[in-house]
Amino acid sequence: MGLRCAGTTAAMTGLPPSSPSPARGLPARGLHVITWGCQMNVYDSARMSDVLRPLGYQPVETPEAADMIILNTCHIRDRAAEKVFSELGRLRKIKDERTAHGEQTIIAVAGCVAQAEGQEILARAPYVDIVLGPQTYHRLPEMVARAARAGGAVIETDFPAEQKFDFLPDAAAPQTPGNLTAFLTIQEGCDKFCSFCVVPYTRGAEVSRPVASVLAEARRMVESGVREISLLGQNVNAYHGAGPQGDVWGLAQLAEALAAIPGLNRIRYATSHPRDMDAALIAAHRDIPALMPFLHLPVQSGSDKILRAMNRGHTADDYREIVRKLHEARPDLALSSDFIVGHPGETDEDFEATMQLVRDVTFAQAYSFKYSPRPGTPAAGAPLQVPEDVKDARLQALQALLREQQDAFNQSLVGQTVPVLFTSEGRKPGQISGRSPWLQPVHVTGTPDLIGQELPVRITERLTNSLNGVLEEEKVYA
Ligand code: 5AD
Ligand code: SF4
Repeated sequence: MGLRCAGTTAAMTGLPPSSPSPARGLPARGLHVITWGCQMNVYDSARMSDVLRPLGYQPVETPEAADMIILNTCHIRDRAAEKVFSELGRLRKIKDERTAHGEQTIIAVAGCVAQAEGQEILARAPYVDIVLGPQTYHRLPEMVARAARAGGAVIETDFPAEQKFDFLPDAAAPQTPGNLTAFLTIQEGCDKFCSFCVVPYTRGAEVSRPVASVLAEARRMVESGVREISLLGQNVNAYHGAGPQGDVWGLAQLAEALAAIPGLNRIRYATSHPRDMDAALIAAHRDIPALMPFLHLPVQSGSDKILRAMNRGHTADDYREIVRKLHEARPDLALSSDFIVGHPGETDEDFEATMQLVRDVTFAQAYSFKYSPRPGTPAAGAPLQVPEDVKDARLQALQALLREQQDAFNQSLVGQTVPVLFTSEGRKPGQISGRSPWLQPVHVTGTPDLIGQELPVRITERLTNSLNGVLEEEKVYA
């Protein structure tokens, strides 16, 4: 399914200056990481910062101050390559300016566009020094050394035999220290080959990290103050990691072990495929209170014909049945999803089946996209491409319905008391903000010492994309 997009141009700069200092003797060098796309890219950017820290690289706020700039790219939807080339044009100017002042700048392009279009990038943007696919981040220090030595471009877009997770350093406190929520990649790649999707080509075959390494990383996160972990994977519920006894663990078993870590209040996972929503995982939603009752379960379409054409391997009724079982296991569970309108061959009738599925299931939140052909995927060359104006009209109708459902879901919380994990000061003075179990931002009047706690809040008001509430007296977790 890929992962939910964290925003198209969300920039982040790796770790703040308070992270562990560089290896002794090496001069401090500035690193600026620009991250586009999904949560997994956010996680990958933090790990690239980790592997470069021993070389003396420290995060800096702006590309102008950076000796190395990494552009971590996303290829999931439209015009990905053009966006990359336009951003590279901007970075080239910065590099030229720095060169004029006698400063060297390494530009690296990482992520899925690098994987899919590596040669094209080197041909069209020869000032790029390093092109690396998502499976080769652990080799970054060696690539930096090679780039500095050779003066020519270095490209690493193969799928190496070794697993990158075995070679990434054990960061003492991965990601931003002081964070209360964190991402943790447990699985990567995809073997499902949906007709429209580039992920199996850019991220490669499905691979799960061993249980011990996931648990060790989670414990380190909790020790550094993390209270909520989002497990990540392109097909996260297909997780099948090697267990400590040489056995194979599924996601349900892993969630149970994670829930036993003292101090870890909340566990989420994304993104899931309906075909991998097995009985054990459904039961885990009943048995593990820390597993949040909010599930991103992309369905893409409500038409059996289109689901078949998409190679999804399930019907619309299969999806309805999975949702019924999930609600049986955890009645307060709410759903999020991804939809594509205008897949090749989609008729008005097929689109109406999607609308009907949305009416039947009801979603608390959802992402919907116009189908856009990705070169090299089966659907790109399929006959019966849907005209752009038809896709536009369908997307508008679907988004209106989904918005209505999202507003209704948020409204249904008004008057209820829900646990909120407070993570920051609010935008208004005297306010603190956090997240509900269903991920809505919740604002209350409260003091900063409550940040880090999970407390009951009575919801008083629905705003456009968040909720207002008041703190209840009794504490859920001290
Ligand atoms: N066109 C439109 N949407 C796409 N997605 C993936 N590939 C395409 C494409 N070619 C959407 C799917 C997926 C989400 C991450 O992005 O809905 O679940
Ligand atoms: Fe998800 Fe299908 Fe893409 Fe795999 S091929 S990442 S299941 S949309």
